[in-house]
Amino acid sequence: MLRRLYHTQPDSFAFTPANLEWAKGQISKYPAGRQASAIIPLLWRAQEQEGWLSRPAIEHVADMLGMAYIRALEVATFYFMFQLQPVGSVAHVQICGTTSCLICGAEDLIAVCKELIAPTPHTLSADGKFSWEEVECMGACANAPMAQIGKDYYEDLDAAKLRALITRFSSGEVPVPGPQNGRYAAEPAGGLTSLKEFESGRRQYNASAQLAVDIGDTVKRIDGTEVPLTTPWLGKAAVAAEKPKAAAKPKAASKAAEPVKLADAPVAAKKPKVLKAARKGKADDLKLIWGVGPKLEELCHTLGFFHFDQIAAWTADEVAWVDENLEGFKGRVSRDRWVAQARVLAAGGTAEEAERIGRGED
Ligand code: FES
Repeated sequence: MLRRLYHTQPDSFAFTPANLEWAKGQISKYPAGRQASAIIPLLWRAQEQEGWLSRPAIEHVADMLGMAYIRALEVATFYFMFQLQPVGSVAHVQICGTTSCLICGAEDLIAVCKELIAPTPHTLSADGKFSWEEVECMGACANAPMAQIGKDYYEDLDAAKLRALITRFSSGEVPVPGPQNGRYAAEPAGGLTSLKEFESGRRQYNASAQLAVDIGDTVKRIDGTEVPLTTPWLGKAAVAAEKPKAAAKPKAASKAAEPVKLADAPVAAKKPKVLKAARKGKADDLKLIWGVGPKLEELCHTLGFFHFDQIAAWTADEVAWVDENLEGFKGRVSRDRWVAQARVLAAGGTAEEAERIGRGED
């Protein structure tokens, strides 16, 4: 399937304050200079917030991570889990069409989607509430045929059951996920034949369905109205969605909950000379430095750096200072060899020459 950006795009994208806080937490999990590793979780959270990935969302994430837009686009267009077009406001229905589900009736489920939602996949229903697609095996083959609706699995389906589920979702209900034919989990249809001694102590639903019920976000967007987000690796037990910056440090953080250090603080870090504004009102195009995107360029301007010759003159301790103060992009200066790149650019070299240096190919 050809995966392209949707023909109609919103003007802009911004994370909700809580999601932004969460995103910063994700970025902090990676060593200095390796923040681009957070691309998948950030794109995913953008999709959880909006339902799909728009071009502004992809570029926003790229800016946050200091990545060239094309790199983020490569990720977003490669993985099928990213929806590149609007999805239903209530739910996006994913029908498994792989072997087990196919021989157990997946085609009947797809026929229901075509009838109730839209004749073609990735198309909104007339009321905008639903969209659907066929996907590959989702690992619930013992409960075939199945569908993922929102975040959860609905299993042991047939056409009538899926029809009923969609009707209930449409009326605002969230049916309990899991097997829809009375099975508890993936035991024989006739009931347990072994391990019967555990039957009496089990909870109302199997572990997956119970967790889905407990969390209650099956078709919910992560748009700032959800329960508190957790960033345990930062030592924050929970970051309240409405007060993302109000979380206090834990009184006695366990070792596992200690904040992750982005990088060891430099022993000697010296602030370079800065300018209040670009000389003669015209800054150099710092984006010619390989690894610098619009966001990072803006950050440089905020810090007082506008020209290649400024960067080219940084000493090691000044590099250390800038590396530490590029909020969200710590370590970029040394990782991408800005000083060497800037020297070339200041001397009239090309972006290609700078890129070779940045990539370590010189
Ligand atoms: S074949 Fe459908 S979940 Fe595996």
